[in-house]
Amino acid sequence: MARVAIVTGGSRGIGEAISIGLRDAGITVAANYAGNDEKAHAFTARTGIKTYKWDVADHDACLASVATIESELGPVDILVNNAGITRDGTMKKMSRDHWDHVIDVNLGGCFNMAKAVWAGMNDRKYGRIVNIGSINGQAGQYGQVNYAAAKSGIHGFTKALAQEGARAGITVNAIAPGYIDTDMVAAVPADVLEKIVAKIPVGRLGKAEEIARGVLFLCAEDGGFITGSTLSINGGQHMY
Ligand code: CAA
Repeated sequence: MARVAIVTGGSRGIGEAISIGLRDAGITVAANYAGNDEKAHAFTARTGIKTYKWDVADHDACLASVATIESELGPVDILVNNAGITRDGTMKKMSRDHWDHVIDVNLGGCFNMAKAVWAGMNDRKYGRIVNIGSINGQAGQYGQVNYAAAKSGIHGFTKALAQEGARAGITVNAIAPGYIDTDMVAAVPADVLEKIVAKIPVGRLGKAEEIARGVLFLCAEDGGFITGSTLSINGGQHMY
């Protein structure tokens, strides 16, 4: 039977490329999305990948949605925690709401989703969890204390959970993307983005498919000895 994967934020941007990459590798994919029904339905029509709507910041919704997916598609073997948001602003301007929202979605979402699949993966002695961190969680970024803290948290979360999963055949790894050509990065003011791209040794933004490639590598059946690692895919912008 084909492996089953959940990709959070799986119908747009980096998540879309990951969902398609896993599908092309013969995996049955459930793509989570939070907001835009129209875009999600168009994604399903285009790719044949089923979409499921819930908020990864909502613990109970994560548990219920994973149960629904397992009843429809089978036990979940692969979890890609990709859902993420930005609410950029300098410390002076950042509200407590913008802090909470980014931490709850980006970091809380990883906990909620891992919790929802963890017992099943332990019972079946197999699992692949890939958490999408960020270069800005490794290096920090002006105007992103919330996002950098959440992404940095993801890197710590990954290393701790990897230790807990190791004896049960569950690998837990992170990818730290640099600046990728997505709507999220397109929202950065053009003059600021231009300066950031000028500092990328490869000389361009990354492509979503270049992150998907890393996810496929970490989710491979023969990847059982790769756990607790962080794969940086950033065009050489930060060598860590
Ligand atoms: N270092 C030092 N100073 C900086 C700076 C930097 N990197 N960036 C801006 N400043 C300074 C400005 O020069 C300005 O100084 P003055 O007031 O003396 O002129 C001051 O900080 C305020 O800057 P802004 O006018 O730009 O302030 P703002 O409040 O309008 O915007 C900001 C601030 C929201 C942080 C904006 O600069 C911004 O969007 N920056 C980009 C943040 C970013 O990279 N986000 C990444 C999003 S994509 C992503 O996160 C995906 C991923 O994983 C990589």
